Amino acid sequence: MHTRFGNDPEHEQVLRTSIDLIANRVLSGAQLCAGVALVDIGTGDGQIAFRAIDAIGPSLRVILTDILAPLLRHAETLAIQRNVQDQCRFIECSADALRDIDDTSIDVVTTSAVLAYVTNSEEAFLEIRRVLRPGGRFSIGEPILRGDAFEAASLKQLVDSQPPGSDDRFFPLLSRWKGAQFPYTEEKIASSLITNFNERDLVRLALNAGFVDIHMEFHVDIYPSAVHSWEVFLDSSPHPWAPPLRSILEERFSVEERALFETIFRPRVEAQQFVTADRVAYLTARKPPA
Ligand SMILES: C[S@@+](CC[C@H](N)C(=O)[O-])C[C@H]1O[C@@H](n2cnc3c(N)ncnc32)[C@H](O)[C@@H]1O
Repeated sequence: MHTRFGNDPEHEQVLRTSIDLIANRVLSGAQLCAGVALVDIGTGDGQIAFRAIDAIGPSLRVILTDILAPLLRHAETLAIQRNVQDQCRFIECSADALRDIDDTSIDVVTTSAVLAYVTNSEEAFLEIRRVLRPGGRFSIGEPILRGDAFEAASLKQLVDSQPPGSDDRFFPLLSRWKGAQFPYTEEKIASSLITNFNERDLVRLALNAGFVDIHMEFHVDIYPSAVHSWEVFLDSSPHPWAPPLRSILEERFSVEERALFETIFRPRVEAQQFVTADRVAYLTARKPPA
């Protein structure tokens, strides 16, 4: 939760805009209406669940699941603050084993930025199908990190192909930084949970699990990075498994290399020369009617 926003409330507000966009698209795909039962898998701080309650009101029943107990407790505290705890249930479980949720008991399932962390995505899709009633709907928004990993791999190849004695300092440092946050060889990309699938794999998973009315949209948005503070830049990370740049510099760079890194990159950060690339797959589907 902290590295996501670089420990900075101002930056959190900026990032919330893109998180809001994903949440709104997932909810639009969910087509919620009064009186339905919703499961939000991997709810984190409950973005999707609370937004759904705001939109539909007290008739919505929501089950919030997450694999991490502290996040679930945080979501529960937020539910109490919002006075919506009576319409919420909190279940600590993995997406590929939705324990304590009965077969065909749910009208709509949502997930946002979760499938990349699930060991058995095939099983997760089957579990979604199991808990949905016939005709029930699911809507997911999943950032596709494969592109970032291929960029890290290309950088590594570029640096490795530089002639010995090259005095380029920018790309080797950039490559070490990106290589610490993303898999950067074909083998690592293929074996890492966060990069071993793309948007088409999500369609295949839905098909294989027996869903119908499958619709997938892949959105790519590239824009200047909102981060202009060096401190925030050091404390941010691009996905939950990536160490923030500050730890990378402290743990993998010498004192001289750190100073060089700051000399080269700090002016670029403060001039907002970096770009942010969001690649998000939105998929909706329906369990076949009985
Ligand atoms: C990037 S966060 C997204 C949180 C929230 N869905 C959102 O959109 O703000 C990923 C969430 O997935 C949860 N998660 C990771 N592995 C999971 C698994 N196997 N099953 C269920 N949730 C999982 C994490 O604990 C975390 O809350």
